[in-house]
Amino acid sequence: MSHVITIHSDLSKGKINRNIYGHFSEHLGRCIYEGIWVGEDSPIPNTEGIRNDVLEALKQLNIPVLRWPGGCFADEYHWKDGVGPSENRKQMVNTHWGGVVENNHFGTHEFLRLCELLDCEPYISGNVGSGTVQEMSEWVEYMTFDGVSPMAAWRQENGREKPWNVKYFGVGNENWGCGGNMRPEYYADLYRRYQTYVRNYGDNKIYKIACGPNVDDYRWMETVMREAHPFMDAISLHYYTVPGEFWTSKGAATGFSEQEWFTTMKKALHMDELITRHSAIMDQYDPNKRIGLIVDEWGTWFDVEPGTNPGFLYQQNTIRDALVAGLTLNIFHEHNDRVVMANIAQIVNVLQSVILTEGEKMLLTPTYHVFDMYKVHQDAERLATHYSGADYEMDGEKIPQVSVTASRDQAGKIHVSLCNVSHVEQSDVSIQLRGLSGAVSGITGQQLASGSLDAHNTFESPDVLKPTPFETFELQGDVLYAKLPPMSVTVLEITAE
Ligand code: AHR
Repeated sequence: MSHVITIHSDLSKGKINRNIYGHFSEHLGRCIYEGIWVGEDSPIPNTEGIRNDVLEALKQLNIPVLRWPGGCFADEYHWKDGVGPSENRKQMVNTHWGGVVENNHFGTHEFLRLCELLDCEPYISGNVGSGTVQEMSEWVEYMTFDGVSPMAAWRQENGREKPWNVKYFGVGNENWGCGGNMRPEYYADLYRRYQTYVRNYGDNKIYKIACGPNVDDYRWMETVMREAHPFMDAISLHYYTVPGEFWTSKGAATGFSEQEWFTTMKKALHMDELITRHSAIMDQYDPNKRIGLIVDEWGTWFDVEPGTNPGFLYQQNTIRDALVAGLTLNIFHEHNDRVVMANIAQIVNVLQSVILTEGEKMLLTPTYHVFDMYKVHQDAERLATHYSGADYEMDGEKIPQVSVTASRDQAGKIHVSLCNVSHVEQSDVSIQLRGLSGAVSGITGQQLASGSLDAHNTFESPDVLKPTPFETFELQGDVLYAKLPPMSVTVLEITAE
């Protein structure tokens, strides 16, 4: 099928905030314990308790920001239980996630050390559901106050002389559900109260994030914006791509049908409508777009892998996940005037993870490879594009077959990310390069593709899916012709001088 794309390389649509490439780490299943934290005495090579293989792989992604400690876990986390000598830390029950013992060995110091090692910004989720105003206020004081105070003294006693820089702070998580089952009116008032005591100390200026809606809960967005917008820097949105029914059968991560492939793509595209409509509500109270929309939980959510703890939400990751990642990131780019951050759930061993581990083994998922290929868009200028082409159809339903983003980085290189979501049709794409500053002097490409619907990497065969050089393109004048195989994610790099 033929598809026509025009890239207006002289027409910038603003910067793509690199924080869109953020991640989310939660005390859930094997995300923190085993996935990230193995402890200093582990036979698995580690840096101050953080496993080296995972650390090195994550460094490669240039992760801009990492959210912690939840999720639902955040609103029952009491940070004071997770500081001080680890042998004295309280053990608690992780009631949300499998009822397992949480020994609090990974706490504030360990998380902020992880962020230092990854060279990324921390994003802390504070506890509104079961925590007090004082507890939240003291956490900020503990982390960021450089002076004489009880919390600063306690931090120093625990081995950290200087405060950390902590910019991003969420005031509650999913307070419409696991974070307290609140009504938006009630949460809006609590938000106003809690955020009052989230103080800026010295040069540390906190960027306050209010708990926003689930999926299409437009009333939540309307109410919280109306009642609390002057007190926030951003508001969150959560949306997961679930091919089946959330409460009964979400669908399997592997071994699914062509119909489930199509439904997954269609549901992933729903993100566009959600952002558009929530943004329109935000516009009423914030027409100048001072307040950011942060999609701090997104990704695929399938049934857990057979035989694994249902409370651990462990799922495999296939080429289908790669397409969901590519499509969704392209949607975020498109909304770069409002979407300032996003955090895929969860970084290791849970939902749409970039890394899976089993004992000392580790594998990179297809989603990892998309984040790696796409990182060229971080902080780049988005270029205006226009696309038209045949739709991808199944059982009378249609969605666009190709999704595209073009951006220019600081070195002047143009990157074009393309997803062909069809499971059967190649797409013959012609890309007209308008407004280039000079003649094209080089084009290279990378592609992640597979001939099978659920191709994935396993611990036995970790490299079934990985990017390969893409060469089936041809430049004629200012038109680039490329053949994109079905189920593929491609990134092109164009140099013009
Ligand atoms: O990602 C799993 C859970 O989904 C998170 O803990 C929660 O915030 C959401 O409901």
